[in-house]
Amino acid sequence: MDKSNGTPFLELRDVNKTFNLSSGEVTALEHVSLTISKGELVALVGPSGSGKTTLLNIIGSLDRPSRGEVLLEGVRIDGLSEEDLVHFRREKFSFIFQDAKPLRMLNVLENTLLPFNFFKPKNRNGNIKDEGIEVIKSLGLGHRIYHMPSQLSGGEIQRVAIARALITHPAMILADEPTANLDRGNRLFVIDTFRKLSKEKGIAIVFSTHDLEIANRADRIVHLKDGVFLKDEPITCTPCSG
Ligand SMILES: Nc1ncnc2c1ncn2[C@@H]1O[C@H](COP(=O)(O)OP(=O)(O)O)[C@@H](O)[C@H]1O
Ligand SMILES: [Mg+2]
Repeated sequence: MDKSNGTPFLELRDVNKTFNLSSGEVTALEHVSLTISKGELVALVGPSGSGKTTLLNIIGSLDRPSRGEVLLEGVRIDGLSEEDLVHFRREKFSFIFQDAKPLRMLNVLENTLLPFNFFKPKNRNGNIKDEGIEVIKSLGLGHRIYHMPSQLSGGEIQRVAIARALITHPAMILADEPTANLDRGNRLFVIDTFRKLSKEKGIAIVFSTHDLEIANRADRIVHLKDGVFLKDEPITCTPCSG
């Protein structure tokens, strides 16, 4: 449940996004309204160019809407200065990008702890390195802690991206096609990990995908086409397959 008495964790109100190009204006999102609660796992589905990445960027405050409002725990953040947004981003959000690549000269543990090269961990009792090792082990990479990225498979590399996303204790994870380049076993591992994190830690997770088998394991599927919501459907059997 949401701690904030029914206030959604994140809300978009009538969001529009246009990009101005020399060739004209491109509308990426039109009249998008959406609420996301703590602990919810939401799949964003739609063809290429339908606005999934743009929507994830706006939810995570990496980009601003051209019109409309973005509220985080009931507070508008779309008009905040970049300086103020940085704090929200660090404290609330983690990102897993489609082309998530670990730094090649750092080992798995160093890649996991990378965010703390830029800011200090908050509210920690234990040693941050020990916590990093625990997170890595929890993702089945206990035998890879000191390995370099060149020694890892694609599925293992995506787990490092998840470890790095988790180490900052985010309230929300935004993942852009996190399973796109993985085999089925690793795709299922990623979505089952997301489910566990959303249910056991209350993390809100929004991810984009083209894969309906993966989308069907979310709590909800939001369908986008040409920047417009087609439908927002709850999944009643969870997980639906397997
Ligand atoms: N930075 C940008 N500049 C111009 N157009 C963009 C930019 N980002 C996205 N678009 C356009 O917005 C639309 C939605 O793109 P995107 O959000 O990347 O869709 P998806 O992730 O579903 O493939 C597309 O028409 C795309 O070309
Ligand atoms: Mg995209």
